[in-house]
Amino acid sequence: MRKGILLAGGKGTRLYPLTCVVNKQLLPVYDKPMVYYPLSILMLAGIKEVLIISTPSDLPLYEDLLKDGHQLGMRLSYQIQTEARGLPEAFILAEDFLQGAPSVLILGDNIFFGLGLQSVLEKLSSQIEGMNVFSYPVQNPQDYGVVEVSPNNKIISIEEKPIAPKSNLALTGLYFCDSRAPSFAKKLTPSARGELEIIDLMRAYHQEGALSINPLGRGAAWLDTGSPDSLLDAANFIATIERRQGLKIACLEEIALHKGWIDQFMVRKTIQALKSSQYKIYLETLLAQPMD
Ligand code: TTP
Repeated sequence: MRKGILLAGGKGTRLYPLTCVVNKQLLPVYDKPMVYYPLSILMLAGIKEVLIISTPSDLPLYEDLLKDGHQLGMRLSYQIQTEARGLPEAFILAEDFLQGAPSVLILGDNIFFGLGLQSVLEKLSSQIEGMNVFSYPVQNPQDYGVVEVSPNNKIISIEEKPIAPKSNLALTGLYFCDSRAPSFAKKLTPSARGELEIIDLMRAYHQEGALSINPLGRGAAWLDTGSPDSLLDAANFIATIERRQGLKIACLEEIALHKGWIDQFMVRKTIQALKSSQYKIYLETLLAQPMD
């Protein structure tokens, strides 16, 4: 069974002073903590067992917020990353948790939304071999890992934050990997900026002919929340859709209920702890509706 890794550490320096004392992934994105969004993506991919990685001072806050996951019908575990030594370190830290299982790593500051996303995620989740990543067209590719592909989607180059990007296709923070990820990650050496680079892990898979790029098109939204402007844009995006539809994005209890991981009784228990928030009213409305 594939397991999930949610990387929610880092320093969040681009958001200072917002993140001087609060971990970035605990900041609000409209009506919920940022970490709800990547966790919802793992849930939509059908992943019930997730390791949450954060800094020594922030990890207890995630445990307080998300507990052991039973309220979502999930199993959540927690792991400290003592310093931000790079994204692939997540696979090394998760090695014992994974116990040889394939994994999916999601960055805690990435938000995905779009038609048909759930079926794409489920499909990739069931692929046991290789590494699958997503590309997304952006106006500022120089701020991301960038992939150049041929018309038939063959990889020509992958570069980290290139000064002169060869394409507008950024690589998103969602990585489906087979069971080899921890061993590949352990062989990587830190880059000039002193971190293990996810691009190098992708290159290791690519050398084995085992890296696939999945384009996320116009119908999907991929937002990152690393800067004040992108954080505000993400909050406005979520607020616009939620207010228009009266439906929530990344309501964890709703996803768990629809997947049959929890029953109405469990949602009622969560509701009791939510005092008088909008989120509580939303959950109550859900319970009043017939389930499809
Ligand atoms: P980054 O945006 O690369 O770094 P950051 O979050 O520390 O922010 P800044 O650049 O403003 O200092 O991180 C991307 C995501 O990965 C983010 O969710 C934090 C997480 N992360 C870790 O948890 N550990 C790490 O070692 C790194 C590099 C990132």
